[in-house]
Amino acid sequence: MGPIGIFDSGYGGLTVFKEIAKVLPAYDYIYLGDNARVPYGTRSFETVYMYTLECVEQLFSMGCQLVILACNTASAKALRTIQQKDLVAYTDTRKVLGVIRPTTEIIGHYTKTRQVGIMATSGTVNSHSYILEVNKFFPDITVYQEACPMWVPLVENNEINSPGARYFVKQHVQRLLNLSSNIDTIVLACTHYPLLLPIIQNLTPEGIRLLTQGHIVAKSLADYLSRHSEIDLTCSKNGIKEFYTTESPKAFNQKAALFYGERVSAKHLKITNS
Ligand code: DGL
Repeated sequence: MGPIGIFDSGYGGLTVFKEIAKVLPAYDYIYLGDNARVPYGTRSFETVYMYTLECVEQLFSMGCQLVILACNTASAKALRTIQQKDLVAYTDTRKVLGVIRPTTEIIGHYTKTRQVGIMATSGTVNSHSYILEVNKFFPDITVYQEACPMWVPLVENNEINSPGARYFVKQHVQRLLNLSSNIDTIVLACTHYPLLLPIIQNLTPEGIRLLTQGHIVAKSLADYLSRHSEIDLTCSKNGIKEFYTTESPKAFNQKAALFYGERVSAKHLKITNS
């Protein structure tokens, strides 16, 4: 038995972890943020895969039997290879899950026009993962994408209420909606975007639903554990949460509350190449 590992390139996954911990408070968790190597959103497939695998293996070595990639870019660029190539080498039931599938498998319940927008990092958009996954579950839905490379730095630098944030949010929302005037549902498919939600809402026409992922991923994980008792039995349940960062814990602790909603006390973790 071991804690559930929650992995992200940095702070962003805390927006997902916060919701998971609310829905499943009894479980033990280790959160790992690879802050020393953030951002992942602009990096190549090979780099994101290598970094993600290193962190997943680290979480396995800390006793995690189940790891959630709370990061969209890692889910888009590394998850499939880890599941299909790396995990098969293990003889036990260790599992790695991501955030894209839980979102795409329910998206059809939200859209009436069957036209959906995805706003994400360049890495997630260029991977086409959302298009492929939505198509598997709902072939009648058309997916339009917009990469928003400025949004993560705006959040990371606590510029969410600045005129710059308004400018870049408006620009990307308009670009997405220029692709189709029939989009009725937009997925904020990046860990950082929930922090921009009030501005995005303000600059998006009424009637368009904005979906954040934290609660969707949390509900999907609860459902998964209730259906897979063999995995649930590998998860320890003492309500303990630990936080690790590959960067300075002091800097992590200062910013983490913005994403997690409460103060955390992280420890440093050295990853080979970080
Ligand atoms: N966590 C990343 C994501 O959800 C955003 C930050 C980054 O680019 O590393 O895509």
